[in-house]
Amino acid sequence: MVSAEAARQSMRELDVLLRLGSLHTPMAVRVAATLRLVDHINAGHDSPAKLAKVTGTNANALLRIVRHLVAVGLLRETGPDQLEPTTTGRLLADDHPAQQRAWFDLTNAVARADLAFVRLLDAVRTGRPTYESIYGQPFYDDLAANPELAKSFDTLMACDQDLAYDAPAAAYDWSNAKHVLDVGGGIGGFLAAIAKIAPHVRGTLLELPLVSERGAEHFRTAGLDDRMNTVAADFFEPLPVKADVIVLSFVLLNWSDDEARRILRRCADALEPGGRIVVLERDDLAEDASNEKFTILDMRMLVFLGGRLRTRDEWSTFACSAGLTVESAEKVASPSVPFDLSLLVLAPNGEKA
Ligand SMILES: C[S@@+](CC[C@H](N)C(=O)[O-])C[C@H]1O[C@@H](n2cnc3c(N)ncnc32)[C@H](O)[C@@H]1O
Repeated sequence: MVSAEAARQSMRELDVLLRLGSLHTPMAVRVAATLRLVDHINAGHDSPAKLAKVTGTNANALLRIVRHLVAVGLLRETGPDQLEPTTTGRLLADDHPAQQRAWFDLTNAVARADLAFVRLLDAVRTGRPTYESIYGQPFYDDLAANPELAKSFDTLMACDQDLAYDAPAAAYDWSNAKHVLDVGGGIGGFLAAIAKIAPHVRGTLLELPLVSERGAEHFRTAGLDDRMNTVAADFFEPLPVKADVIVLSFVLLNWSDDEARRILRRCADALEPGGRIVVLERDDLAEDASNEKFTILDMRMLVFLGGRLRTRDEWSTFACSAGLTVESAEKVASPSVPFDLSLLVLAPNGEKA
């Protein structure tokens, strides 16, 4: 006979499995974020009917999503037909300091790309990204062809950039750096943080054409255009600029080992004598890599682009295959990015620190 406690335990386990295996909750959260339900509730549209009206959606379908959001604890009913967000639900307000709503908004580049997870089985079978099979072209080509989507991606990458890049910028000693080249540097958030902490540094942002234009605008607005410039270039080709520090922040994880090695070699070729490559990414020890901060980003890279996160030991082997040595690696906690970052310093093989 199964005891009552054992039966309850097995029900709890079943609940966990249902929660883990459900596709409807992640999609309901994304719909809520895209329709800005929490912002609308906060603005007084606090019943399912009012929400349907203000969002121009089907009242019956929306009511059913709202019920699910109540069931999973993002919204709660405070009276008949009256809703409020829970503490977790409030994270979906557009102006919440955690800045999470946009990451779940299906019209933005990342949540849209997450839909490539529907074909995760294909990625697992082939080791190839699935984004292209859904949207018809590889991730960055798709962004280049859709300026609004590209803008949403740049904005997500730069979200809270002052906070996100201050800690990594402070973690490196820039005193010997005269010219820093940020390869694939987005709209220049990291360079702007370096400019603040190391006023003697000149910087160059190397990016795809559209992004480099936005970077130039960012430097102008921030009053940094006397020290920071931009070049539009492809980092798979020889880099048009040399520098004594080359930064790669959240770039190599986008690419397979072969592609990432090619980028690293381009960077190594563009180093001034004695120069260093500074990589900002996440690099857990192999034995710690089964944590969701690592696995979520790693799996995203697989389906979006065929890229990957690398563990600390994989970094040593990988850097060596590009003619480089990992000189140092340290964890940097950022107050706004919801996971620890790692700052790795790479030196050409055989060079003394
Ligand atoms: C994940 S984002 C990281 C942006 C920025 N470094 C950061 O940490 O926020 C990767 C960047 O690589 C740029 N990129 C992609 N392909 C590129 C290429 N072939 N040449 C130059 N930049 C490229 C993208 O435009 C994008 O801004």
